[in-house]
Formats: sequence, C-alpha cells, structure tokens
Amino acid sequence: MKILDGKKLAQKRSDLILDKLAKNNPKLRKPKLVVVLVGNDSASEVYVKHKKKACEKVGIEFELINFLDSVKPQLVLDKIDKLNKDSKVDGILIQLPLPKEWNEEDFLQAVDYSKDVDGFHYINQGKLYQGNETFVPCTPLGIIKLLEEYDINLKGQKVTVVGTSNIVGKPLIGMMINRGATVTACNKNTLNIKTHTKKADILISATGSQFLITKDMIKKGAIVIDVGITRDLKTNRLVGDVDFDSVCKKSGYITPVPGGVGPMTVQILIENTIKAYDNHKK
Ligand code: GUN
Repeated sequence: MKILDGKKLAQKRSDLILDKLAKNNPKLRKPKLVVVLVGNDSASEVYVKHKKKACEKVGIEFELINFLDSVKPQLVLDKIDKLNKDSKVDGILIQLPLPKEWNEEDFLQAVDYSKDVDGFHYINQGKLYQGNETFVPCTPLGIIKLLEEYDINLKGQKVTVVGTSNIVGKPLIGMMINRGATVTACNKNTLNIKTHTKKADILISATGSQFLITKDMIKKGAIVIDVGITRDLKTNRLVGDVDFDSVCKKSGYITPVPGGVGPMTVQILIENTIKAYDNHKK
C-alpha cells in the first residue's frame, strides 16, 4: 500500500507560502480572505475553522462574516457587493450550504470573478472548460497537485470520477480532460457502477456515501482518491467513500481519510487567495 499523503504535501506547500510572504515588503498590506457563512451548519463551522487556522499560519488576514439564517438575502448580497469593492479584500468565499430556500447561484455569481477563490464564478468555470485555468475549485486542484507530487501523469490514463457535483466532480472532470486523461463520469443514475470503476487507472470518488467503493470494484494497482468525508455513526470516526481497510490491499496509491484530500483543499484555498492578492496588491 502506498499512501498519497495530503497532510504532508499541504504542510510543505504552506511552508513555501509562509516563506514567500515573509519576503514581501512589510509596508505592503497583508493578503486578506473573507468567508461569508449564513447560519450555523456544524460541518461548515468546522471547515471554516480549518480555513481560518490555515490563513493565520501563513500570515493571511482572515475575516468571518457570520449571518443568522434568518437574515434577508438582499443584505448578504449587499455585503458581497461591498466586499467586491473593498480594495483590501483579495478573496471572498461563500461557505456552502446556504439556507435551503435560497438559490445558491445568485450568491456565488455575485462574487467578483477576480476575488473568486472558490472558482465557482461562471467566468472562471468557462475558462476552465476552455483549457485556461485561472481560479479553479480547491478540491479538484488539490487532487491534481497531490498526483503531481507523486509523479503521476494523467495523460492517456483512464480516470473514473464517481459523483458529479458542481464543487468537485464537474470541475475535476474538466481539469482531467485538460491534462489529456480519458474520463468516465458516474452519478446516482449510473447502472452497474462497477463496470466503470473496475477499468479505471485512477478512481476518484466524491459522493459522501460511506463504503461505496469496495475492493471488488477496483483494478489491481489502481490509484484511488477518496474525496468523501462523513462521520461513521457506529465508530464515531471520520470516513470516506472508500472501504479503506480492504481497498488499500489491492490499490497502488490511495488517499487516507482524514489526511488525504481535505488538507489539500484548504491549502489550495490559501494559494488561490495569494494568487488574487498578487493580481490585486496595491
Ligand atoms: N462547502 C463544502 N465544500 C465547500 C467548498 O469547497 N467551498 C465552499 N464555499 N463551501 C463548501
């Protein structure tokens, strides 16, 4: 079993950012990320804490704007508009999920595309699909960087992606195509998913469905990337989509949960914020 150690790589890349920022003129303002959170979803609160900690570690200013879920949507849109115009703000992230009755698109598209560190703006998504990656979603880019670290080339590889969310699966598929992979996309409606997972050189699962991927579903030596992160109520442990204990005996490389994709997601958010800062500076 070979582990793709996302925690270690995220740490390494975070240290590089720390060094880079330390070299900046101390008179220059610091990079700044603002997270907009509506309500008190407990998973979101945990994610936001990780983001805050990662920012503070490298010297990015972090601000959390936490609205009650009873807030009027227009008030949130007005705040986003203010942040767009604030020259001291480099990155704006709308933490998902938003209240159920809201249309998330309205809020994601309200963020100025030059501050869109999540890569969810139509302009950034469109550019991704034209092969011009500018701000791309953090989890897919984290996966690409993790594969690169272990010299895993995507060109000509058969990649199967299970789960086609806007946040992970869809952008990841585009990024895999940009790198010359042959991509299969599976979703809830896919019949006999095993026929698709079994042929994959690289299998990526991003569904949040515990133990979906079992040993019989993978090819021997396949690279297995687990994006899922949920709590197993029986053991109270965080688990992924992959039945790690059995799959790791047959896979080539595999990501653990936790310590695989998660830390890379947060690290790419940091790097996207630095990219926005380098573009804005002043
Ligand atoms: N909620 C779960 N994942 C994400 C993410 O990548 N970005 C944002 N903004 N919210 C999320």
